[in-house]
Amino acid sequence: MTLHAHAKINLSLAVDGMRPDGYHRLRTVFQSLALHDTLRFFEADEGLAIACSAPGVPLDERNLVWKAARLVWAAAGRRGEPRGRVRLTKRIPAQGGLGGGSADGAAALVGWDRLWGTRLPIGRLRALARELGADVPFFLYAGTALGLERGDEIHPLDDAPSRWVVLVFPPFGVSTPEAFRWWDEDHGTRAVDGWRLAAPSGVAPGMPRAASHEPQADRPAVFNDLEAPVSRRHRELAEIRRALEGAGAEAAAMTGSGSTVFGLFRTRLAARAASDRLTSAGWRTMVTRTATRLQAGLLVG
Ligand code: C5P
Repeated sequence: MTLHAHAKINLSLAVDGMRPDGYHRLRTVFQSLALHDTLRFFEADEGLAIACSAPGVPLDERNLVWKAARLVWAAAGRRGEPRGRVRLTKRIPAQGGLGGGSADGAAALVGWDRLWGTRLPIGRLRALARELGADVPFFLYAGTALGLERGDEIHPLDDAPSRWVVLVFPPFGVSTPEAFRWWDEDHGTRAVDGWRLAAPSGVAPGMPRAASHEPQADRPAVFNDLEAPVSRRHRELAEIRRALEGAGAEAAAMTGSGSTVFGLFRTRLAARAASDRLTSAGWRTMVTRTATRLQAGLLVG
């Protein structure tokens, strides 16, 4: 049994202050991409095994595919250790804000459930997805969707207009906790004597939210509140965004907690030309396109 785990970008990402549990309250629009990992599931007589095409991917309980197996096995009331094998073909670059690990985790929940015939109700799969990570529930729905709270409260939206996407990979990575910590530092929400100061209504003093965040009729709003804190520490990021805009992108922004920057284009030709230009300037790039809920969703079909 084979499943595709599609990458995502965040078309927009607003940080609306802190939640009592220490997570940041988000309002983000996720968008699936055609770019995907492939997971092939096989029966096994004993134990769990993950094989992966790419080096550096943990093949044990640190992998969300492994954690997903444990969760599904336990939720199905099975005893002992889960049994199965998975072959993971990685195409989504890791730690880039494209949700690679989370997409694999969501695909694994569905994959193990089908392999073992456990048929967990969709509501149960969603709950397990939340346990795996804040980004994971989106990948069950895919397409275009609004994520609230930790980013895990998902409201499906109509598919956004199809676009070609140029992804640019800076030579540095950013971990998710790091990006949020930098946002805290810049917005004065650092812990004080072990207590966190909440930014009043999510907007730091003296930093009114830009009016350009308002969506325009034929163009979705594209922005990322985590981009400024990351750009401040990695100057190349702003340079990449300007290069994408200079190469004709309709809009460009960092995705998730970075460090990947994406640009949106109406045609494949325009996307290819921009990608060639950025490659010549020394950046690592990839061209893909947006994917609809029907193309990328794990719970459809
Ligand atoms: O849930 P996940 O493991 O993806 O989150 C990783 C870390 O990112 C969290 O421990 C937290 O520090 C940060 N985070 C956050 N607010 C969110 C999502 C993640 O502060 N909405």
